[in-house]
Amino acid sequence: MAGYIIEGGKKLSGSLTVSGSKNASLPIIAGTILINGVTTLYNVPDINDIKITLKILTFLGCKVHKKNGKVIIDTRKMHNHEIPHDLMRQMRSSVVLAGAIIGRFKNAAFSYPGGCDIGARPIDLHLKGFQKLGIKIEENSGNIRCRCDRIINGKINLDFPSVGATENLIFASVLSDGETIISNAAMEPEIVDLQKFLNKAGAKISGAGTSEIRIIGVKKLNEIKYTIMPDRIEAGTLLCGAAITGGFLELKNVIPEHISPVLHKLEECGCKIQTSNRVITLEAPKRLQAVDIKTTPYPGFPTDMQSVFLSILTVAKGTSVVIENIFENRFKYTNELKRMGAKITIEGKTAVIKGAKKLCGAQVKSTDLRGGAALVIAALSAKGITKIDDIEHILRGYEKIDVKLNSIGADIKLYK
Ligand code: UD1
Repeated sequence: MAGYIIEGGKKLSGSLTVSGSKNASLPIIAGTILINGVTTLYNVPDINDIKITLKILTFLGCKVHKKNGKVIIDTRKMHNHEIPHDLMRQMRSSVVLAGAIIGRFKNAAFSYPGGCDIGARPIDLHLKGFQKLGIKIEENSGNIRCRCDRIINGKINLDFPSVGATENLIFASVLSDGETIISNAAMEPEIVDLQKFLNKAGAKISGAGTSEIRIIGVKKLNEIKYTIMPDRIEAGTLLCGAAITGGFLELKNVIPEHISPVLHKLEECGCKIQTSNRVITLEAPKRLQAVDIKTTPYPGFPTDMQSVFLSILTVAKGTSVVIENIFENRFKYTNELKRMGAKITIEGKTAVIKGAKKLCGAQVKSTDLRGGAALVIAALSAKGITKIDDIEHILRGYEKIDVKLNSIGADIKLYK
C-alpha cells in the first residue's frame, strides 16, 4: 500500500492550476455510451476512478484511448450490457453507467456499487425512477437486471435531490420518444456540465442547475469533442492547504461561483479572497478563526469539502461546529486527526472542534477519499513528520496532489 510522508510547517506560496472535475468526468464518460460513435474528451483528470470507469467501458466492448487528459471513446462495437461485479464494487459512481446502458440498449445488468465507506449509500431513488420510466427491474442476490421495450416518459419527483439518480434518469430519457420531467433534481454544477455535453451531442435537455430538468427525447446523438469543467472540490482542497499554512495561493482554471460557500467560509476564517474570471487568490492570516458549517445539497456547503474544511478548523482560534447532513458516516477520518492532537467530539451528525495551536505529526491512515485529503491538509501545518498510509483512497480522486502542493512549498514524499 502506498503512502505519503509529509514534513509539516512549510508555508505554501505560489500558483496552481486546477484539474478537470472528477465528478463531471465520470458521468460524462458514462454518457458517451449514448453516442454510437467516437467522442473526444479533454481535461479529464488522471485519477484512479477514471481508470476504473474506462476499464469497465473497455470490458463492455468500447475502444478507449487516453493520453494527457485527452480521452477518446469509440462505442460503436459495444456489445456487452453487463457491468462486472468486481469493477462495479470498486466505485459507487459506476452506477450511472447503468442509466446510459439502458438508455441506449434498453437492457443492463449490474450489482450494487461500492465506493467510499461514508454511509449506507442506497440506490433506491435510481431504481424507483427507472421503474417510473417503465423499466422492469429484477433483483437477485445483489445483482440487478433492468429491461424495457421502450421508455415511458413522465414526471419523476425525487424524494431527495440525489446527484447520481438525477444523472441516471437523464441518461435513461435522452433517447426516448417523449418528454421526461425530473423535479427536485440535484442542482450541482456537474449536472449542468452533463447537460452541456449531451446537448452539444444533440440531446434536448433544459433546466440543469435548477430543481426541474426537462428531457425531450431524440432519436440519436452525434460524435463530439468536449472539455470537462474544472474540479471545484480539488480547488477548495488546495485553497485550504494554503489557508492552514498561513500562505498565499493563486488558483487558475477555477469557476469561483462553483465554490462560493467555501470561499465565504474561508473569508469568515480570516482569509482575504479575490476572484476574477477563472482565477481565485487567497491570502491567509497568521491564525484562522473558528467558523460553523452545515453541509447541504448545492448551492449549499458541499459535503465533499466537509472533511478538508474541518481539518483546517482543528488549528483555528476558538470552537467550531460542523454538521454533516448528506452522509451519515462521514466523520471516520476524525479519529486519525485526533491521533495528530486534534480536539474533536462527534455526536451523531455534529462535530465540535476545539482549535489547538498546532497539530503534531503522527502515523495515520486514510479512510476514504476526502477524509484522506483532510489528513494531507492537516499534515501540511503539523509539527514534525506525518506518515499517511493507504493513500489509494486519495489517488481515486486527486490528480498529483503531492506534486502540486510540493510545487508551492510543501514537503510530501510518496512511498510505495
Ligand atoms: C455524488 C458525488 C459525491 C458527493 C455526492 C453528494 C459523484 C461521482 N459523486 O455522489 O462526491 O459526495 O454526490 O454531493 O458525482 N441516496 C439515497 N438513495 C439513492 C441515492 C442517494 O438514499 O438512491 C442518499 C445517499 O445515501 C446520500 C444522499 O442521498 O445520503 C446523497 O447522495 P447522492 O447525491 O446520490 O450522491 P452520489 O451521486 O452517490
